[in-house]
Amino acid sequence: MNLSNFIILGILFSSSSGGKNECYSCSGVCHNEPCNCQMGSCESNQCFIEKKPTEIPGSMKITKGCLRRSSRIHHGCEYDHFSDHILCVCQGHYCNDKVVMNTTRQKYARTITCRECSEKNPNCDSTCEGHWCHEDMSTGASGCGYGPPALPFYYRGPELFYYRSKVCITLSRGAGKPRRHCICSLNMCNQLNSPQNYHNYKDREKESGLKLRSLAMTSPDTNVPLQSCYNCETNTQDAAAMSHTTNCRSNRCMGHFCTYAAQRHTSKNSMGRSNMVHAVSELQGCMNVSDRNNIMLGCSKKWISDEYEEIHCACRGNLCNSDSLTAASSMLNGFHVLIPLLLSFFVLF
Ligand SMILES: *[C@@H]1O[C@H](CO)[C@@H](O)[C@H](O)[C@H]1NC(C)=O
Ligand SMILES: *[C@@H]1O[C@H](CO)[C@@H](O)[C@H](O)[C@H]1NC(C)=O
Repeated sequence: MNLSNFIILGILFSSSSGGKNECYSCSGVCHNEPCNCQMGSCESNQCFIEKKPTEIPGSMKITKGCLRRSSRIHHGCEYDHFSDHILCVCQGHYCNDKVVMNTTRQKYARTITCRECSEKNPNCDSTCEGHWCHEDMSTGASGCGYGPPALPFYYRGPELFYYRSKVCITLSRGAGKPRRHCICSLNMCNQLNSPQNYHNYKDREKESGLKLRSLAMTSPDTNVPLQSCYNCETNTQDAAAMSHTTNCRSNRCMGHFCTYAAQRHTSKNSMGRSNMVHAVSELQGCMNVSDRNNIMLGCSKKWISDEYEEIHCACRGNLCNSDSLTAASSMLNGFHVLIPLLLSFFVLF
């Protein structure tokens, strides 16, 4: 059994115990420190605080709420991909009290130099200093990442780079070509090819549509069998219209894992009783990976009461990404086998 299974097991057990814990659930904009809100509540063992800049220069938005199975491997306050975004994750009753930027991990994070180019000018000479580098191999955009290494549907933590210095995924989600993203941990590691080759690469990509994979420097993990998944994108302002927009449900893609992501904006109705759903977006698709360690199987959820929720799931099994319940239970099926196995192990010894 590998490390990620242990982590998942630990989370499974810890989230099934208790459940009476609450978190602050509020949001607000502030212009000066200290930036805080202490209102509202939602029920969960894991809480978060998020702090990011708003469109108005100098002002920050702070958001607090609940998490279920956070993708962050380590608790505490750390950068969230960007140098001006902070995400704190904690466990316990109203633990999301205030932002504290002094985890030991933060202090010892090594800084590296990365290429930093926009989609418009992917062949530029700019660099940045960050904790890890990223690149979008489909557009050529590149830059620096801060805090725990972050890749969609993976756990977030330095563990991602324990065995490899570069991890890549290819995501197909709804219409459009699959997109390839990579993150890496060495100086200037986000150079797709040497700069002078980039245009050749662009031309070849145009000619042959989907030649990205053959050019990728990280070979895919070929031990993972392919799954057939839903490949569908749904966006609606009106929940009732959902049933009419399911025509892409007949689209399929193949990949090592199926993925499901959803966002819902909700509010209490005037009677304050039931939740009204204002907008829903759902993305179902496929993911190929260069490294299957640290993929977060099952679903993680983040929510603010009566306002917002987002769900991210990865699963294995044909068409396991029809909805979040199916995606979450397809992971549990594997553990029904694993838990008796573990128990029999302890009985025997
Ligand atoms: C962070 O700093 C505060 C005040 O300096 C201290 O009380 C707290 O224990 C520190 N937390 C960590 C995780 O080091
Ligand atoms: C994943 O790889 C398989 C086999 O190479 C390919 O058929 C499939 O289209 C790929 N899926 C994505 C999302 O790139």
